Amino acid sequence: MSNNTQAFDEWLRTRFVEINSQLEATYWQQEDKASVEFVGEQFKHQLETEGNAHIRKLLAEGNTDEGFDRAFDLLGNVGLFMAACRRHEITEPSRETTSPLVEASALAMHIGASIGVTPRFATAHLTTHNKAVNGLYKRFTDLPDEKLFLDYNTKGILAYKRAADALLKIQPLGISHPLCGELLKVAKQALVDVIESNTALYNQLDTERFFFCVRPYYKPYRVGKEIYRGANAGDFAGINVIDMLLGLCFANEPSYSQMLVDKFLYMMPEDQQILRESMRMPSIMDDFLAAGDTRHSPWFKTNAKLFIQVCKLHGDTAIGHHNQLVSKFIAQPAQHMQQQHMNKVTASGPPLHLLLDSLEQLRDRRAAAKRDDIRTRYDDLAQLKQWVSN
Ligand code: HEM
Repeated sequence: MSNNTQAFDEWLRTRFVEINSQLEATYWQQEDKASVEFVGEQFKHQLETEGNAHIRKLLAEGNTDEGFDRAFDLLGNVGLFMAACRRHEITEPSRETTSPLVEASALAMHIGASIGVTPRFATAHLTTHNKAVNGLYKRFTDLPDEKLFLDYNTKGILAYKRAADALLKIQPLGISHPLCGELLKVAKQALVDVIESNTALYNQLDTERFFFCVRPYYKPYRVGKEIYRGANAGDFAGINVIDMLLGLCFANEPSYSQMLVDKFLYMMPEDQQILRESMRMPSIMDDFLAAGDTRHSPWFKTNAKLFIQVCKLHGDTAIGHHNQLVSKFIAQPAQHMQQQHMNKVTASGPPLHLLLDSLEQLRDRRAAAKRDDIRTRYDDLAQLKQWVSN
């Protein structure tokens, strides 16, 4: 790591966290906690000046050729700085046509384009690829609520990835292979882990702290002239690998494929590769339906039962995400928010009701709910359930 990269990383792990935490404490004391403009100006000035000084040196150095991991890490650091500037409204995408953070934008675009990801910080930077130094990983603030949120996001993502890996391994073996059942059991356990982890997050996270002091760092911001949507815990391939391999969602359905197209560059290149491959694979659900004439064989009954349980658990993770996490930590607090801040609520940018509609559709596809307006696997799962019951 170059000296400049190291110095910036150290600044990010110390001063940056201090300044953000100080600003959070200042906003928190106000009656309107969402009001950021003209508050804590001297801290904002320090943040911008100190961060830019580091970035200027890195840009001049022009050395991003230290391998993928280093480049990705540096992009994350620049991104955390830009996201904090947006959170404190040092920048504001609707106020500007191009980012005032000219040097940070240039550095982020240079790195992002060269390694094949968006030029902003992504979920992986704070979760699965966030190196801890002496037990502390990178964060925006020293608030325990932020740590709790990140710990459980990482836990959930790792568990989804375990489920996806197990399902991917079924593909070359086939549904009648003696080890197919073992892999379905691994997927089941991993999805139970997601549910437990999300339930713990639901019970422990403080709604107001999350809404006012954590979530705002995940807003969209401009890099150069483009606005890049906020990071969310879904920006990894595993969740969609599970959707498509189980056969609950379809890569050729417009709203689902739109979501995939939009998220590609927010994922690590290795995840992009996995997602691309899984978009071309047949689903396990279709394999079971096509094997209907062998439904009386013992392997079919055992494996199809396990498959149905995996589908049920995947649906339950989605129901928990929507009905618990999104509802308690986003939808409900947004109802009480002062109207002038409402257009800034979601990470991806669209108005809240549209975002909630699309998350609800995803939930119902994953849960194979009976719906007339969107395609779900309700009937196909009912058929499989009937086959294994007699
Ligand atoms: C997406 C809320 C935690 C998985 C989203 C979105 C919202 C949201 C509002 C839509 C994207 C956006 O706003 O731009 C929350 C809240 C959480 C939370 C309030 C906790 C306080 C988690 C956790 C996981 C997770 C722990 C587990 C890995 C996902 C996934 C998506 C997503 C997979 C992408 C859309 C999808 O495929 O369902 N989340 N989330 N979320 N979140 Fe969460």
